[in-house]
Amino acid sequence: MWVLGNVSLLLGLMDSLTSMLPDFPDNYASPKSLVEIQRVNAAKEGRFPDDFLFGVSTSAYQTEGAWNVSGKGESIWDYATHNSPETVIDNSNGDIAANSYFMYKTDIDLAKQLGCNAFRISISWPRILPTGFPNSLNPKGIEHYDNVINEMLGRNITPVVTLFHWDLPKELQDLGGWANPLIVDWFVDYARIVFKAFGDRVKYWSTVNEPTVYCVYGYGGKMVPFVNHSGITEYLCGHHMLLAHAKAHKMYNEEFRQEQKGKVGLSISVPWAVASNPEDPEEVAGADRWFEFWGSWFLNPLFGHFGDYPENMKNRIAENSLKQGFPRSRLPEFTTEEISMLRNSTDFLGLNYYHASPVQKYLNYNVTSTVSFFGDIGMLEVPANENGAAFSDRSTPWALVSTIQKINKDFEVPMIMITENGYWDRGQLADIGRAKYYHQHLSELPGLIAQGINIRGYFAWSLIDNFEWSVGYTQKFGLFSVDYTVPERTRIPKISTKVISDFYKTRIIPLFLWSLNEVEFDINVGL
Ligand code: NOJ
Repeated sequence: MWVLGNVSLLLGLMDSLTSMLPDFPDNYASPKSLVEIQRVNAAKEGRFPDDFLFGVSTSAYQTEGAWNVSGKGESIWDYATHNSPETVIDNSNGDIAANSYFMYKTDIDLAKQLGCNAFRISISWPRILPTGFPNSLNPKGIEHYDNVINEMLGRNITPVVTLFHWDLPKELQDLGGWANPLIVDWFVDYARIVFKAFGDRVKYWSTVNEPTVYCVYGYGGKMVPFVNHSGITEYLCGHHMLLAHAKAHKMYNEEFRQEQKGKVGLSISVPWAVASNPEDPEEVAGADRWFEFWGSWFLNPLFGHFGDYPENMKNRIAENSLKQGFPRSRLPEFTTEEISMLRNSTDFLGLNYYHASPVQKYLNYNVTSTVSFFGDIGMLEVPANENGAAFSDRSTPWALVSTIQKINKDFEVPMIMITENGYWDRGQLADIGRAKYYHQHLSELPGLIAQGINIRGYFAWSLIDNFEWSVGYTQKFGLFSVDYTVPERTRIPKISTKVISDFYKTRIIPLFLWSLNEVEFDINVGL
């Protein structure tokens, strides 16, 4: 017994009340819009639409382990963690991680127990192509993901598959990685192999995960692969990722879409920036610029008719570049042909959302002496407090609402899936913070869908505690804890699994009483 009092009774009552949809006259609308109307109506009544995808999200390097098993090549994370363990705060790595390469059936089973009808994974590029190039095709890699995908489908779980979630083949990094324009074609070659192998069963593809985060940190000297020419390499990396995505989308249209009928999108982390001093108009304008540099940088070229970077971003970088003695802007330009390829090149936006980001002016920034991405924005993130939060509470569901409303208003986004949403802590099973966080965030979605915003799925990050990049295993995001002290990597449910499974199984907003403190809650849930 974990639900309090008469909550289950209430849920049953709400369910039967809300399942009564109004009758539509025969000539009301085309079947397509009828489905859309039904979605909106369901949401107005507090229900999630029948075809809504509820899932969990993971990535290959963070969970699989098996780093050198069955012909897998070396990734940049294998290389960095083996050769410079200090790269990661606790000197750890993903060599074994949660052992999901061998335990994928267990993971899929856990997802099923939660009530998921979808599961987002990523494919490890070096497991498929150990050197990164097609002439190194590894059949065992294909076989592994075949098994994973078939297992999901056998359990009525829709796979959502990311092609690049940061584990680039090391050999491609030796050639410059995402700073080299040739990577656009290397990525398309890899994508073709993956679409061909799995596209008969996979209908949702996310080409790249969090391109802006990867480029700003990885190509701004703060994270693997530690390319460090800030103000130059972030933009090169982003430029080539945009083109790689658009070219892979074009290739899918030309070679696979007719037969496979899938959707090709990408997952972007769009932060909601809040000025630390709302009375200061310059700082408020700076917060808008933050959204532009982190969000519109990718949204503007991909969604709608623009096909290019935001004007303000282009002008600002061009002006700063001139002041710094560059003969042209550090932000590369797209050709006319590239602009037409970028336009409307994305079937859905995968939105990764965690929390609002308070920002402040970049004081003492000297534009003539320092070339830097953050200098171009003119803003910095407010450093987090000891709880890892710049706000007193890391749960800011209102910012999810504002982000989605802004994206819906300013860009032509055909469909949104929330491909990541999550909360970190130190790994306690009584994870009240996470349970609350999920309840608060999921509760906002019917309201947004009721406004006509086409949100079609939600994926919690993450199913299990896993390798959290530069902070190793010190931050935990899982709904299930993983016992990293035993070879079995035992998975143990946390309290938040109850909140998630209640949403996913009832498909309405369940009631919870959050006034209880952690201990009382623990007793009441009876875990
Ligand atoms: C974003 C990334 O996609 C994922 O790899 C990471 O673990 C989560 N956010 C949490 O930081």
